[in-house]
Amino acid sequence: MAYKCNNCGYTSIEWLGRCPKCGEWDAFKDNESLNDPKGNKDPDKSPTPLSKISFDPKERIPTSIGELDRVLGGGLIPGSVILLGGAPGIGKSTLLLQAATNISREGKVLYISGEESSKQLKMRAERLNLSSDDLFIFSGGNLKKALHHLKEMDPVCVIVDSIQSLQGPDSSTSVGSTKQVRELGREFTKLGKKKDTAVILIGHITKSGDFSGPKTIEHLVDTTIYFEGKRDSNVRLLRPDKNRFGSTRLLGLFKMTENGLEEILNPSQFFAKKNGGTDQKGTTTVCTVEGSRPILAEIQALVTPSNFGGSPQRRTTGLDYNRTSLLLAVIQKQLGLNLQEFDIYLNVVGGFKIGETAADLGIVTAILSSANEVQIPRRTVIIGEVGLSGEVRPVKSLGSRVNEAEKLGYTKALVPEDNAGIEQMNPKLDLHPVHDLPAAMNKLNLN
Ligand code: TYD
Ligand code: MG
Repeated sequence: MAYKCNNCGYTSIEWLGRCPKCGEWDAFKDNESLNDPKGNKDPDKSPTPLSKISFDPKERIPTSIGELDRVLGGGLIPGSVILLGGAPGIGKSTLLLQAATNISREGKVLYISGEESSKQLKMRAERLNLSSDDLFIFSGGNLKKALHHLKEMDPVCVIVDSIQSLQGPDSSTSVGSTKQVRELGREFTKLGKKKDTAVILIGHITKSGDFSGPKTIEHLVDTTIYFEGKRDSNVRLLRPDKNRFGSTRLLGLFKMTENGLEEILNPSQFFAKKNGGTDQKGTTTVCTVEGSRPILAEIQALVTPSNFGGSPQRRTTGLDYNRTSLLLAVIQKQLGLNLQEFDIYLNVVGGFKIGETAADLGIVTAILSSANEVQIPRRTVIIGEVGLSGEVRPVKSLGSRVNEAEKLGYTKALVPEDNAGIEQMNPKLDLHPVHDLPAAMNKLNLN
């Protein structure tokens, strides 16, 4: 016997009056599907040797948006379910309306909109210059009606915008509640598999940053992708979090323009200056690898005397705060530079986010460049992870980072001495292997 909380899905072997996870009262019901495995089993199917299972490698359906296809692993798989999460206003509807129009070249597409009226969607489509006879808009917030159309139409793809705005099968719980979202997730997953339709579910992150509702269906879906970006920047990142049919190390890059979302096809050119760096103190160019793609990006540091008397300001945009704090501690301890009386601001230019430790040396040298008021030589890219004792540690894919820098007109690179095969790397670039922070400072005359 097992009991399941109707609100959050928490399971327990005994009945409980109040759910220990979500705090809901009287939400435990005995769960038939948990006790009765019939629901999960197909009695006609017997175990089959893996080698005997026939697999028809179905064509993936391209969305014809290169950056989206890349993140999906090459397009949509019929019968698969994708969850697209993101903050309101980030561009989820825009992206999927553009994708839906493209997909409709392959077959019918049903766009279920619980958030916007058909007229609003039409206005958006006009603005984006999109039109299709095979893209059907159903503006209504009721699952039953949506399913009816879905069954009749037999589309290749159905888009639900959003899963939090649809009334599920159980009208006693409110729209957008965790329970509704979970039931809707289950319904659409079942339907997608049964009809071999690709399903894309939009889930939005609330203003307070909560994604707990859509997160409860993450185990059901095949792929979860987040659409991210800053309000004050037009750069948008498509980041897969889970993908049963592709890598999660790939990143899609877009910019939001007057005419909808445009792909950023050459990210290095977008995020770093062509022909190398600026004359400003505190600016360095680093090279990060996103998926298999090397991307040059510019880091700016501003180190100024603190005016507050209390604890100094530390702000980072586009960089991991904890990693940066660690690097500041390394600077203080290993280089003996006291930064306590300085405010430090760090920024990645162009709204790009760097999550890779290969940018450590670039961050440290940007801080030193600003603190010591020394400019980093032009056309120099700085690559390396920094360890706690101030050593410069090797990074993966150094060769492709160096090549990318050379392509963009850079002439010099600081690289970790311990990386293998430096001698065989791009001869057009002047490579300077360094083994620790003092060596890097010497090479850049940062003392
Ligand atoms: P939207 O796709 O509605 O976001 P979401 O579905 O994630 O809530 O996009 C909303 C924002 O995008 C809105 O603030 C206006 C902007 N936008 C553009 O800048 N250009 C465009 O062509 C479109 C359609 C929207
Ligand atoms: Mg929307």
